[in-house]
Amino acid sequence: MGQEHFEEVEGLIAKIDSENPSTLDELEQFRLRYLGAKNLIKPLFAKMKDVATDQRKDFGLLLNQAKNQAEAKFSTLQKQLKKRQSSEGSDLDLTAPGFPMPLGSRHPVSVVMNQIIEIFRRIGFSVVENREIEDEWHNFTALNTPDDHPARDMTDTYYLKPDISRMLRSQTSTVQVHEMESKEPPIRIISPGRVYRNETISARAHAQFHQVEGLYVDKEVSFADMKQVIFYFARELYGESVKIRLRPSYFPFTEPSAEVDVYWGLNNDDDYRMTKGTGWLEIMGCGMVDPNVLSLCGIDPEEYSGFAFGMGIERQALRKYKINDIRMFFENDVRFLRQFTSAH
Ligand code: DAH
Repeated sequence: MGQEHFEEVEGLIAKIDSENPSTLDELEQFRLRYLGAKNLIKPLFAKMKDVATDQRKDFGLLLNQAKNQAEAKFSTLQKQLKKRQSSEGSDLDLTAPGFPMPLGSRHPVSVVMNQIIEIFRRIGFSVVENREIEDEWHNFTALNTPDDHPARDMTDTYYLKPDISRMLRSQTSTVQVHEMESKEPPIRIISPGRVYRNETISARAHAQFHQVEGLYVDKEVSFADMKQVIFYFARELYGESVKIRLRPSYFPFTEPSAEVDVYWGLNNDDDYRMTKGTGWLEIMGCGMVDPNVLSLCGIDPEEYSGFAFGMGIERQALRKYKINDIRMFFENDVRFLRQFTSAH
């Protein structure tokens, strides 16, 4: 007796199973149908009295199963649909392109340094670097700079305490010594790097700056070779029609020594100021490596000769970008640095 009631409940369970509300509105209908005050399960409890006594327990279990199933389905779907709605309802657009990553820019000193490196690379110079904390030998002695040379003075060079035989290098010429001591000619290198001098910091001078050093040592390297390499460099940097001149000068480690000037012109007041009224702009120092320096570094001056040159980078960058204060290079102010974003 009451078999049809069992079938009715089973039919209801199958129906609950097959329901698939896909919006919150449909889910509300589902709730009202199976869990609300007038739900479809409730009246079936009243049928209990029509079921044979020994089957009432099973009938009760079946009814509870229907109710539990409806509750479980409701709470799972409610969570899913609410989650979906909150992501749809927000402004989040998963297909929108991402925010651009802010890209830095190359420092103007690096831009010029790389340009110089590239020019010398094309004619077979390789790039080497070396230490910034030096000893007297590499910064002075092996470079033929005698004990009483003014560059050795405390007011020109930063010595490190407590052992003042160490110092911050005051020139990249130190790298020449390291190279000649450790390698056999032919040596053909350029060496960019930072140097330090005990200068009063102003718009035109700084206690730290960058240089590029060059060295070529081989059999029969001549002054004419040096001039041609420098001429090639000036043409690459300043253009085909550049004019250069070599002015006799003095450096302890080269003999003879020269300063290299490029012709800048005298077209306006700026040109007068920049070239001190001569029209010529000094760009580097150079010379034939002093035989004494070759010997001190373990190279036989009877067999080998060489030339060397050295130039400051900030000065070239100041000129290239028309910057009038060298301190800006070291302040790390992004408003200044950002202006070189398109430079390469
Ligand atoms: N070391 C020199 C300076 O700091 C620059 C220089 C001049 C380097 C002549 C050289 C050179 O190699 O031959 O002023």
